[in-house]
Amino acid sequence: MSSSPGIETTDGMETTDKVRNYLKFLRDAGFLYLVPSEKAEKAAASARQRAAKLEELRALTSQCTRCKLAPSRRHVVFGEGNPDADLVFVGEAPGGEEDVQGRPFVGRAGKLLDQMIVDAGLRREDVFICNVIKCRPPGNRDPETDEIESCEPYLIAQLELIQPRVIVTLGRFAAHTLLKVQTPIGKLRGQVYLYQGIKLVPTIHPAAVLRNINLRGDVEKDLRRAVEIVNEFRT
Ligand code: URA
Repeated sequence: MSSSPGIETTDGMETTDKVRNYLKFLRDAGFLYLVPSEKAEKAAASARQRAAKLEELRALTSQCTRCKLAPSRRHVVFGEGNPDADLVFVGEAPGGEEDVQGRPFVGRAGKLLDQMIVDAGLRREDVFICNVIKCRPPGNRDPETDEIESCEPYLIAQLELIQPRVIVTLGRFAAHTLLKVQTPIGKLRGQVYLYQGIKLVPTIHPAAVLRNINLRGDVEKDLRRAVEIVNEFRT
């Protein structure tokens, strides 16, 4: 029996194999609509290329010694998610749990972000999540200017490769880094900005929501706006 998760039928052939054979038969008989269109094939090829380039960038980033955070980190937290995502979240920097696991937003703030992602009608695996800084600042202190400047080329490259429809920045560091402003996040949020032609929705960092649950409604509102923008592109 093949290892595909098909249902075995009484003649011993799995349903998935039967369907595959039938589709092949139809295609051989000249039903071209069963073959992916040239446009779909091109899109799939460029998605594969993008994923491969992102993996190359991940490998490069994992060797980074550009700033003073390198010696104390356990893992470089490059980011994760769909290389073809319409929506990219950009946080601040990995915390303790992220440093241990090498994955972004897996601690307490991450759990809250996960909930808010689902509440906005999204799935974590469909978006891409990364940070301005890829290595944990000791004691979770704020990232310093020289660290942000050293790490920024990686973030810029990630966004250039993924080319999302919308960027949601979480907290002031991500908004300030991408928008090159110093406006407090409370004043920035509630509006849509442009980063290199990509719509940017700044919102409050989930860690701040953990400290003040009254802020959750604002973040939910911002995420709804971001999802609306993604959906505008799809219609
Ligand atoms: N806070 C961040 O900004 N990023 C993470 O990955 C985790 C917590």
